Amino acid sequence: MPKPKLPVSLSERDPERSLEFEFIRATENAALNAIHWLGRGDKEGADAAACDAISGCFDHVDMCGEVVIGEGIKDNAPGIFLGDRLGNWKRGSPRFNIALDPIDGTTNISKGMPNSISVLAGVLAPAQGTAMLNIPTFYSEKLSYGPKVAEAFKQDKALRFDLDTPTPEIVAKTARILGKEGKQIVVIVLDRPRHGKLIQELRACGAALRLITDGDITAALAPSLPDSGVDLCMGIGGSPEGVLTAAALRALGGDLQLRMWVRDDEERRRIARDPAAKRLKHIFRSDEIVTGPSAIFCATGISASWLLPGVRLIGRKAITHSILMRARSRTVRHIVAEHDLDHKTIYLRSQRLEARV
Ligand code: FBP
Repeated sequence: MPKPKLPVSLSERDPERSLEFEFIRATENAALNAIHWLGRGDKEGADAAACDAISGCFDHVDMCGEVVIGEGIKDNAPGIFLGDRLGNWKRGSPRFNIALDPIDGTTNISKGMPNSISVLAGVLAPAQGTAMLNIPTFYSEKLSYGPKVAEAFKQDKALRFDLDTPTPEIVAKTARILGKEGKQIVVIVLDRPRHGKLIQELRACGAALRLITDGDITAALAPSLPDSGVDLCMGIGGSPEGVLTAAALRALGGDLQLRMWVRDDEERRRIARDPAAKRLKHIFRSDEIVTGPSAIFCATGISASWLLPGVRLIGRKAITHSILMRARSRTVRHIVAEHDLDHKTIYLRSQRLEARV
């Protein structure tokens, strides 16, 4: 009698389902390994600790992970960069495109300030190309809003706005969609000289401002979080952070508009031959930035932000708070983990051993 065919296992059919929990382990380990750098004034040290834990964690995972969005060279630190490999690359294991920022908010952690997270996104690699937009410019213009605004755009063309819409109109339309007054609209902006005009315009139209020092991934996700009290995030920030934001918004239901922003002539020359530079004027939406049927996004808080509480050290325990989401199912998991520091070890790539936290 012919043997009945075994059904294909879920992890074979949908490798995201089992691998997503390895992503969480990686950002948890990064947060735990970086927390000791809080306030030490050494952002490179914190970043290196987070990278070491992420690479080490994936060294034991059956995955062929290619980093397609790595750290910006800005940090001038050891890091995980474009083209690096994560996972053990065991033959036959699933291929993933990975975007990551081992710490978004390195300056914040170095000063002991709020708003730093460790963050990873992954998409099953398509047969050709990558599932995450290659953005050759260091910075991009970004505008993010929550699910209600994104939904209103689909229902009523007259309510739409984009990166070219004058600021007062963006605020007025957001207020109309959310049933608020203009002065009740809360906007997050990175506190940078390049945002002088934007800040003036927002103040002139009466919107409330939350100026932040660093960390615009949590800021861009805030309008899509039910209790953040934030309605919009606007301004120019890092391009890789935009890709990570887009991966999360595919699950949360808000949206991000992104347009590459060339910072100077030197950058214009450097990117001239990049095929992506042909789309400098295009305004990308989340599903054009992270493409394909699904995407995993996960983050662990290092210091407290709109998205997550930070690591709490209580006695011989460390408590971590993480968020894990999948665009396919739109499941959003909030994971609180209690780590017993007398037993917890983290495999570090640099030492090739399990180290105490
Ligand atoms: P890092 O922690 O990776 O250095 O990034 C922090 C950050 O604030 C990002 O969140 C933001 O997108 C970018 O830097 C803004 O760049 P800049 O500090 O050059 O204005």
